[in-house]
Amino acid sequence: MDNRLIVELLQQHLARQPEGLMLRIRTFLALRQAILDGQLPPGTRLPGTRSLSRDLGMGRNTVLRAYEQLFAEGYIEGLIGDGSYVSEALQRVGRHPPPKRLVGTRREGLSRRGGEIAAASSSSRIQRGAFMPGVPDTESFPFAIWRRLLSKYFQPAQSHLLQYAHGGYGPLKVALAEYLHVTRMMKCSPRQILILNGSHQAVDLCARMLTDHGDRAWIEEPGYWGSRNVLRAAGLDVRAIPLDAGGIAPTPEDWEAPPRIMCLSPSSQYPTGVVLSLERRLEVLEQAERCGAWIIEDDYDNELRYHNQPLASLFGLSRTQRVIYVGTLSKVMFPGLRLSYMVVPEDLVDAFSIGNAELFREGRMVDQAALAEFIDSGHFTAHIKRMRGIYRTRRDILLDELGARLGNSVRVSGGHAGLQLVYLFDAPVDDAALAADALADGVVVRPLSLYYMDRSRSEPGLNLGFAAVPDELIRPAAIKLARVVENHLDRAARRG
Ligand SMILES: Cc1ncc(COP(=O)(O)O)c(C=O)c1O
Repeated sequence: MDNRLIVELLQQHLARQPEGLMLRIRTFLALRQAILDGQLPPGTRLPGTRSLSRDLGMGRNTVLRAYEQLFAEGYIEGLIGDGSYVSEALQRVGRHPPPKRLVGTRREGLSRRGGEIAAASSSSRIQRGAFMPGVPDTESFPFAIWRRLLSKYFQPAQSHLLQYAHGGYGPLKVALAEYLHVTRMMKCSPRQILILNGSHQAVDLCARMLTDHGDRAWIEEPGYWGSRNVLRAAGLDVRAIPLDAGGIAPTPEDWEAPPRIMCLSPSSQYPTGVVLSLERRLEVLEQAERCGAWIIEDDYDNELRYHNQPLASLFGLSRTQRVIYVGTLSKVMFPGLRLSYMVVPEDLVDAFSIGNAELFREGRMVDQAALAEFIDSGHFTAHIKRMRGIYRTRRDILLDELGARLGNSVRVSGGHAGLQLVYLFDAPVDDAALAADALADGVVVRPLSLYYMDRSRSEPGLNLGFAAVPDELIRPAAIKLARVVENHLDRAARRG
């Protein structure tokens, strides 16, 4: 092939390469594209670097580096001296079809499972503002203390903390075991504690280690969409069991087709805030023992109780080792930390530790070391205590303002603990449409229907987070929201 033609071809390809990339990379990409498009077929002799660099008006080294990269990746054979030729191996590969892009709602190429995960899409990109539920106030975090602890452990003398962490950071597990003993009446050894990157990973690990594809799993209805999606992604047959005032309320028929695993939030059901009654706790434990089911206890924000101490765990009540306890630092510290912990029954410790290491490879030891000291030196409990006060004030402002404006047309569920509360409507309000209208007015709320697996059962309501909203912004946002709610209540009344 004539060198002049090759130069022209490359000039065209070079013009199409993204600006901002180094010239040698653009030259490499231009040559590669010409080869992949078949414009420089296998066996083509490329011009020498000296002449090509002169013709393209660039330094010889630039062309040399591009040729070296093509050679290293197998696009050309022979380097310089004897001439460089487009690799004969490309003959067999054939032309690359233009890549299909997965955009918008197109799901081609995904597995059935992948398609379901992509379709589930319940998490929100919005993580700020009145009244996004589930988010703590990150501005009030004790930055200076945390920064000091991080820098104490992030230094050459502690370089072992940058390695893979097999089994988590020992002193953190000791600190957590002690903390759980004092605050949750849980007796466990540090050995039983696994450190993970968030509760989703804990649920995923339980699903993989304790269930097989197609096994039945129970979740609460309404319930946390995150656990639902993780269990479904594990190929489980997920059934949602409705709640009553005492928490999850399986019927005798439900127990006749028991689950292999169930995911509960006994201390403060998400999102309703209902506490699992003692009677129901004992029933669930007894039935789980009878039918060999495992219970995942999702204890995500039990520390933040506004009227009493954290409730004792289901794990602590169980004498039969059927409960796996999951705690998270997302609500009491900050969600981006991505640290959670699970306490597994003694008999599962070895298998779960191996599973965790094999599936996920552990790390984050610097964060874990900082957290261990944060807990041991009392900063953790002090922070929780302080945030509890701040959150309680914010909850009260919200209840006061919305109570005054909406009165008896709504009922409140939850709010005794945690970062959010639910407003329920007796009228047949379309809560998703209401949430969309509120968003258009700058107020973020999550419709209660989002938390139902079977939307036909859903009771209309709104899940409102108050914790991350500065005191002075709560009333103005509540006033806007009340207006939207009143509108929708009127509409529902007219529909009749
Ligand atoms: C009930 C419940 N469990 C668990 C989580 C997630 O916790 P993590 O950040 O540890 O994955 C959330 C987050 O909103 C939640 O609402």
